[in-house]
Amino acid sequence: MSDTLFTPWKVGGIELANRVVMAPMTRNRADVDGVLPDSAIEYYRQRACAGLIVTEATQPSAAGQGYPGTPGLHTDAQQDAWSRVADAVHGAGGRVFLQIMHTGRIGHASLQADGGPQLAPSAVRANLEVATATGEMVPAPEPRAMTHKEIATTIADYASCAARAVAAGMDGVEIHAANGYLPHQFLSPGTNRRDDEYGGSPVNRARFLVELSRAVAAQIGAERVGIRISPGGQFNDMADRDNEDTYLALVDELAADGFAYLHTLRGRTSVLHEELRRRWPSTYVVNTGYMGSSEIDEIGPIVENGVADLVSVGRLFISNPDLVDRWRSGTPRAEWDEDTFYAGGDRGYIDYPTATTQD
Ligand SMILES: Cc1cc2nc3c(=O)[nH]c(=O)nc-3n(C[C@H](O)[C@H](O)[C@H](O)COP(=O)(O)O)c2cc1C
Repeated sequence: MSDTLFTPWKVGGIELANRVVMAPMTRNRADVDGVLPDSAIEYYRQRACAGLIVTEATQPSAAGQGYPGTPGLHTDAQQDAWSRVADAVHGAGGRVFLQIMHTGRIGHASLQADGGPQLAPSAVRANLEVATATGEMVPAPEPRAMTHKEIATTIADYASCAARAVAAGMDGVEIHAANGYLPHQFLSPGTNRRDDEYGGSPVNRARFLVELSRAVAAQIGAERVGIRISPGGQFNDMADRDNEDTYLALVDELAADGFAYLHTLRGRTSVLHEELRRRWPSTYVVNTGYMGSSEIDEIGPIVENGVADLVSVGRLFISNPDLVDRWRSGTPRAEWDEDTFYAGGDRGYIDYPTATTQD
């Protein structure tokens, strides 16, 4: 049992009640306009015992959507729903950052208002299947390499999404640069074959994310902006091994800018992560990222030993809305049901009991 896990921590200008972050988790319950249902307000309110909630990934533009049922934050109706989420979490004593995700090459034209194509750093197809708007699984399309104008427009979309997030009452935003989506596609040489200033060297591959992060920070303040990365991650057909220099270039470039936190997915041990931790000046958040486990006996020591300041926990938060309270009181935690992770209604979403409400 780790006591440090239950101590407060300051991120940017905000005080977190404890060191446990609810990891971002897509739940695919938004409507066709990318507007969250009312149940999402309850879902997030129930989980406000986390020191910080990072919301499910949210597209900053219609073009950024890669899955059916993911919410957006680029229209007034979407913003209204998110503002009710922020109010509910704050009312329950929690803090919340909105995760912004543009999926790049992962997606399908049927999900795009303008019929696509998918935009990516280079025309490199992912060797996997993607969902269409109706949920049918089909081979991923070959994306088109982004022009300079499209890069600028995309960065501007992230910045205006961040402004909407703060206007909706969010404490900040997290830029999703992990798990094979657009910013990760720029970072990784397998998906970034560009020979302009956005590709070809570690500094160049980091440039899109650096410019993007700075544009978002210029809009809402760097102290409200976190960045999530997954160095070496293979999810979504990424080949990101031997790419350490790009992540070091990224961190060196952003270190002096005052960002709220760096959030990394990592395995049990990694020399790169120790180096990232050493070079990153503000809050460092770790997620064991499927490689380890998010059980308390594994994550407690991560914070206790200073490997990270905060740890993020995903699936256990789905099935245990009161996870931090359970851990604090030594109450056993409930198992999750994978069948209800993505899409569907209230079942497996807002009907997991707390320790005090279960029989
Ligand atoms: C249902 C589900 C949805 C997820 N969606 C996202 C997402 O939207 N953004 C993201 O960065 N990671 C996403 N992840 C990854 C989680 O944030 C986390 O890294 C992963 O679940 C491993 O942590 P855990 O072992 O504590 O669950 C998702 C994971 C799950 C299980």
